Amino acid sequence: MKGIVLAGGTGSRLFPLTKITNKHLLPIYDKPMIYYPIQSLVEAGIRDLLIVTGGRNSGDFLRLLANGKEFGLKHINYTYQEGEGGIAEALALAEHFAEGSKICVILGDNIIEGSIAQAVQDFQQQERGAKILLKQVDDAERFGVAEIQGDHIVGIEEKPSRPKSNYAVTGIYMYDQTVFDKTRTLKPSARGELEITDVNNAYIREGTMTFNYLEGWWTDAGTFESLIRAANLVHGTLPRQKEPVMAGASGVKDA
Ligand code: DAU
Repeated sequence: MKGIVLAGGTGSRLFPLTKITNKHLLPIYDKPMIYYPIQSLVEAGIRDLLIVTGGRNSGDFLRLLANGKEFGLKHINYTYQEGEGGIAEALALAEHFAEGSKICVILGDNIIEGSIAQAVQDFQQQERGAKILLKQVDDAERFGVAEIQGDHIVGIEEKPSRPKSNYAVTGIYMYDQTVFDKTRTLKPSARGELEITDVNNAYIREGTMTFNYLEGWWTDAGTFESLIRAANLVHGTLPRQKEPVMAGASGVKDA
């Protein structure tokens, strides 16, 4: 499976921290933010990576990460998103890189305590479709929120004012090669972006979306509150031994 880290966008919610640098280069305790999602992919055995960057500081990613030696990699691929047309727009830029392989996509501001290795392994076995990782949260209205019936997701709402559950859709997504046909059909949402939630809902309608529950803590880091929360979580976790902690799965609905 190939891995894609989405690190485009302007990080406007963190202004003025993001006035002269990219959000994903800001520190989370002792490392730049983007180290954490890269580490999550590498730890799951994914070694063929694409970083999608953007903005005025994209050259800094190359200076920081080079060919990925710090992560045990021999090479990293890079591409550039012009503007900030949304997560699905950034993902669409990865089509040439994916070359028909399954992909694991992680948002550049998502940081997790545990491992996604089991979920990646489960998706390798899945014949087709997609898999997302869910996490129970207290502030579901900030995220994509899954409506679950039995062991299937029946829909996802993006930042609903009245969430139908407290299961947030984390920024870790696994897709088969049909994802790029799906991104081509998208229309911009009310906030003017191509939404990853619309891609996920297309898989749900098709009956090929599965999910795992993510264990261990999870946070994004795109607001002042979540940025400091992420640093405190990483700091608090460091002394403890990291254990792989994924569980839970659902099957592909009979198509
Ligand atoms: O963190 C998980 C949440 O991420 C999901 O629950 C939501 O369904 C999903 O829409 C997303 O919500 P946000 O509104 O928090 O996403 P944000 O605009 O902060 O972007 C998250 C990352 O995606 C950002 O760190 C880099 C990447 N991105 C975003 C945009 C808008 C891009 O690469 N290009 C973009 O144009």
